Amino acid sequence: MSNGTEREQWGSKIGFVLAAAGSAVGLGNIWRFPYITGQNGGAAFVVIYVALIFIIGFSVMLAEMAIGRNAQLNAVGSFRKLKGGMWPIVGWMGVIAGFIILSYYGVIGGWTISYILKSFTGLMDFAAQGEAGQVFGSFVSNIPQVIGWQLVFMFVTIFVVYKGIGGGIEKCCRVLMPALFILLLVLIVRSVTLPGAGEGLSFYLKPDFSKMNAGTFGAALGQAFFSLSLGMGCMITYGSYLGKKETLPGAAVQVCFLDTMVALLAGLVIFPAVFAFGVDAGAGAGLTFITLPNVFGQMPGGPIWSGLFFLLLFVAALTSAISLLEVVTAYIIDEIKMPRQKATIIAGILITLLGIPSALGVAGIIPKFAGRDFLDSADFLASNVLLPLGGLFIALFVGWVWTDGAKKEVTNNGSAPFGLYVPWLWVCRLVAPIAIAYIFITGLKW
Ligand code: TRP
Repeated sequence: MSNGTEREQWGSKIGFVLAAAGSAVGLGNIWRFPYITGQNGGAAFVVIYVALIFIIGFSVMLAEMAIGRNAQLNAVGSFRKLKGGMWPIVGWMGVIAGFIILSYYGVIGGWTISYILKSFTGLMDFAAQGEAGQVFGSFVSNIPQVIGWQLVFMFVTIFVVYKGIGGGIEKCCRVLMPALFILLLVLIVRSVTLPGAGEGLSFYLKPDFSKMNAGTFGAALGQAFFSLSLGMGCMITYGSYLGKKETLPGAAVQVCFLDTMVALLAGLVIFPAVFAFGVDAGAGAGLTFITLPNVFGQMPGGPIWSGLFFLLLFVAALTSAISLLEVVTAYIIDEIKMPRQKATIIAGILITLLGIPSALGVAGIIPKFAGRDFLDSADFLASNVLLPLGGLFIALFVGWVWTDGAKKEVTNNGSAPFGLYVPWLWVCRLVAPIAIAYIFITGLKW
């Protein structure tokens, strides 16, 4: 690096894979995936989703990792170094998307911490009467509480990124990712052994393709991108801390596999429970904070199950929030040449401030705009505009512009053959751009 200090690196390949999986596994898997699946007809949606993850998601993820590992720079710097011209704009959009996503992600992250505690302090009594909705409503309109928990969540996120790559992010993900897996397994055992769980399992596991419609494909691809943390240079940034000896395709497959596993397993927790207690699986965004507490409230040991569930959600959200902050921080470190500690604190504070309007919007203090509150609008702008555009240009960049460089990078200069190179190249060239352009256009209309 130009200032003479060496770039930080992951301690090991498995550390990198766990950190990247920590980024991918988040609210998207446990909160968003089940309700999107519920709204799109269950198992048929899941089949399409998994296919899209491994064809298009994997390809774009490998493209991002190759760009970052080759350039050894943040998202903006990577494009400038490899090609220049207008390309750094793609990195810029990524940094802005990271800024926006983390602003509201921090608010929801705060809710998860509060709900861990609420599980043991009265939430279950209301939920037993089916009144978790009222609890949620009065919680989100209590501004000091919501912002207080947002600050706690952001503080933890900032602390980990402040500690750096090996000593902060990697260390944290090495502990939390296995813990997350254990929590999931415990919750699955509880859920599938509930009387009446079978109906939920068959909704979730038996495809009924008649339930599919034109929107299914777009919803599945959008979910795949968000869930894999693609389209905003997250994997470029994480890849930039990876040593030159490691092989990229294997790492990308492992991250896709872990992310898909967690989403599928989260469905195994939620659908049996929701069907066993006869509530609506397509309940939308409220499924996690309203429907599930209502379900837990009717179970023996409700506080424990609810507490464990929201702990799971918190862990998943934290390791993703860390990656979002790292994209912005890496940009400031490389481009403005600021030390990590200072860069993290400045980025963290600015992002936390931008989150406050989201919190106020959910509370009804800021008016809705075109039917969406501030949080939904921020999510729409990032997930439906910036991420698909970012993914589109990343695929085109690797497929048509920086093609030779990418070939060398994914094969470690020819020393590690990549058997699927040709299919991968054509997915980047044609399949991914066409599919992304399609969801981009349909997503904007909606
Ligand atoms: N993938 C995360 C989730 O499933 C969210 C996330 C983290 C993300 N980093 C990202 C989404 C980068 C898009 C881009 O919740």
